[in-house]
Amino acid sequence: SNTLKNRHFLKLLDFTPDEIQQLINLAFTLKTYKKSGREQQYLLGKNIALIFEKTSTRTRCAFEVAAFDQGAKVTYLGPSGSQIGHKESMKDTARVLGRMYDGIEYRGFAQRIVEELAEFSGVPVWNGLTDEFHPTQILADLMTMLEHAPGKQLSELSFAYLGDARNNMGNSLMVGAAKMGMDIRLVAPKSFWPDAALVSECRKIAGTTGARILLTEHVDEGVNGVDFLYTDVWVSMGEAKSAWAERISLMTPYQVNAAVIKATGNPDVKFMHCLPAFHNEETTLGKELEIAYGMKGLEVTDDVFESAHSIVFDEAENRMHTIKAVMVATLGDA
Ligand code: CP
Ligand code: NVA
Repeated sequence: SNTLKNRHFLKLLDFTPDEIQQLINLAFTLKTYKKSGREQQYLLGKNIALIFEKTSTRTRCAFEVAAFDQGAKVTYLGPSGSQIGHKESMKDTARVLGRMYDGIEYRGFAQRIVEELAEFSGVPVWNGLTDEFHPTQILADLMTMLEHAPGKQLSELSFAYLGDARNNMGNSLMVGAAKMGMDIRLVAPKSFWPDAALVSECRKIAGTTGARILLTEHVDEGVNGVDFLYTDVWVSMGEAKSAWAERISLMTPYQVNAAVIKATGNPDVKFMHCLPAFHNEETTLGKELEIAYGMKGLEVTDDVFESAHSIVFDEAENRMHTIKAVMVATLGDA
C-alpha cells in the first residue's frame, strides 16, 4: 500500500524510516529509468506551482526538470511579482492556488508558513527549504551516501556535520540520521548546536532506530573514523549580512580543510555540501568577504572542494532524482 499518496512533504519528522527509504528507493529507480532512456510519465497533465520567497538554483531547477520529465507543467512564482506576503496572506494564497494546481512547492522563511500552506491548499505541498528544515536536500544526501558506499545500508554509515548546526541543514541532517539509524556527529561551537527540544526529539527516535547522535565542540573527536564530512554556509539566506563577522571568528576552527580530512583517519572519506559553497572568492559576496576578512574559502577550502574526496556534484544531481521521487510518490498516477 502506498502511504505516501496525497501526503505533504514538509519535514522528515512526519515520515517513518520505511517511508523515507521508499522515497530513496524510488529515486534510484527513476534515476535508472532516466539514464537508460526509459522515463515513464506519472505526472502527465499535472500543474505544479513553485513558490520561491528566497533565491535558488538547484531546488528550482530540480523541481522544473523533474516535473517536465514526468509530463507536468510548472509555474514559477519568485521572491517578487506575486501578491504573496505583501498583499495576500498565505492562507488566502493557499486556497487560490489549491483551486488551480495539483501540487505546490514552497521555499521561504518560517516553517509554520509552509505548514499553513499545506493546511489550506487541499493539494500536496512540498517544502523546498525553510529556516528550520530542508527535507528534500536530505533525501538527495542520503541517496548520494548510499551510492558512495556500495553494499551498505544507511544504518552502517557515519558522518560529521561541521559548522552552523542550528540551521536548516544541521536540523534536518540530525532528523534524517536519527530516522535512518545512522552515526551522526554535529561538530560546532556550543551556541550553534541544534535547538535542545529538537535534539531530545531526535534522541528519542534514535532510541528506536539505533542511531547515534554526538554533539561536540571538538573537531578531532567528531570526525574520527567517519565515512562522510558535511558542511554548509556559516550564514544562511534570510540572515543579516552583519552576522558574518561573528560567524567567521566562531566557525573558522570548524572549516573543512586538508587537516580535517586527515583527522578523519579515513583516506577514502567523502566531502559533501548542499551548495552553494564559499570555497573561493569567485562570487561577488565571496570577493567582499575576502576583502573584509582575508579568507579565500570559508566553510571549506578550495583544495578540498576540488579534490577527489568531493562528491558535491553527485549530490546536486540527486536533488533532481529525489525531488522527482517525492512528486511521483505523493501525486503520481503510478
Ligand atoms: N542546495 C540547495 O537547496 O540549493 P539552492 O539554494 O540553489 O536551491
Ligand atoms: N543553510 C543554507 C542552505 C542552502 C541550501 C541556507 O538556508 O541558506
